[in-house]
Amino acid sequence: MSRPIQAHIDLSALEHNLSVVRRHAPRSRALAVIKADGYGHGVLRVAQALRKADGFALLELDAAVRLREAGFQQVILLLEGFFSMDELRWIETHRLTTVIHHHEQLAMLAEYRPRHKMDVFLKLNTGMNRLGFTSEQFPGALKALRENPGIGQICLMTHFARADEAGADESTGIQLTAFNKLAEGWHLPRSLANSAATLRYPETHADWVRPGLMLYGASPLPDATAAQLDLCPAMTVTSKIIAIQALKAGEGVGYGHIFRAEQPMRVGIVAGGYADGYPRHAPSGTPVLVDGKRTRLIGRVSMDMLHVDLNEIGNARVGMPVTLWGKEMPVDEVARAAGTVAYELLCALAPRMPIVT
Ligand SMILES: Cc1ncc(COP(=O)(O)O)c(C=O)c1O
Repeated sequence: MSRPIQAHIDLSALEHNLSVVRRHAPRSRALAVIKADGYGHGVLRVAQALRKADGFALLELDAAVRLREAGFQQVILLLEGFFSMDELRWIETHRLTTVIHHHEQLAMLAEYRPRHKMDVFLKLNTGMNRLGFTSEQFPGALKALRENPGIGQICLMTHFARADEAGADESTGIQLTAFNKLAEGWHLPRSLANSAATLRYPETHADWVRPGLMLYGASPLPDATAAQLDLCPAMTVTSKIIAIQALKAGEGVGYGHIFRAEQPMRVGIVAGGYADGYPRHAPSGTPVLVDGKRTRLIGRVSMDMLHVDLNEIGNARVGMPVTLWGKEMPVDEVARAAGTVAYELLCALAPRMPIVT
């Protein structure tokens, strides 16, 4: 028998979540964001499930090439663009689309002479202050691209800093207004919305939406659950109880004895730890399902194991199923308890985790 932990990836959930994107943004094309190995779900697996998407966005060149070689014909957008001249050859050969966000990239493009026209997304910094040309730099950047005979279609894009926050409408509004002012009159396609903006701000949908998190069935909005948004979790991490301990009042469990029993209690030892991708900093009280019933993590998460309170779980026994997150145990709830976000838990799935579909 192998170690019982595994991640189940529900391909139909991914497909369903794409249909939710379509429902919210029916007139836009959808660039499915599948960076970081498809947010931990496996980039090719996700692309296959989301093959009806109009394009894919990621930033790892090797994964982009693998997608093309696997036969995907859609737009494949590199969200950070390229970092050196030799990557341009790969981009051209595999008909990838690249973001241009910096003068260095314009200079490399000017020097590189593509034989086929390259499509680009020109990134504007409208307030995120991470990547992109400022309003002052934009006319020069656009002129350089238009004068370059190797450049094909140009799409204008930006990224929001606070679209996920309830009560930050003003910030997103300022970015949207700034973007629209710059884009006005050029008649170029536009792309602005991540998952949160796709759900919250229809006025940002434009030509291409760029949803990531919502495709994986987690909520990008702190004031709405995934279920309320009709999103289905694509990843469910399950394991089993592999040992049971009976603690006397006052006894501690695990490294550092950071949890001590106040009364006699039964503790389940679960195969799953930080080397599997479970967050080490999850505190006692983080929700866990044992045999379909909610209980709590106790003590310090170790590399390969964690401990759960079995006092409220009748007939607890070795071999009982445990759900760490996924269906019935929203990853958003686990992330909140652990002081992080679903993005981090999903992306941190460890390479040793067996995946089943
Ligand atoms: C430029 C860009 N667009 C879209 C996304 C997708 O964001 P989300 O996963 O919040 O939908 C990301 C993710 O960070 C991004 O960097």
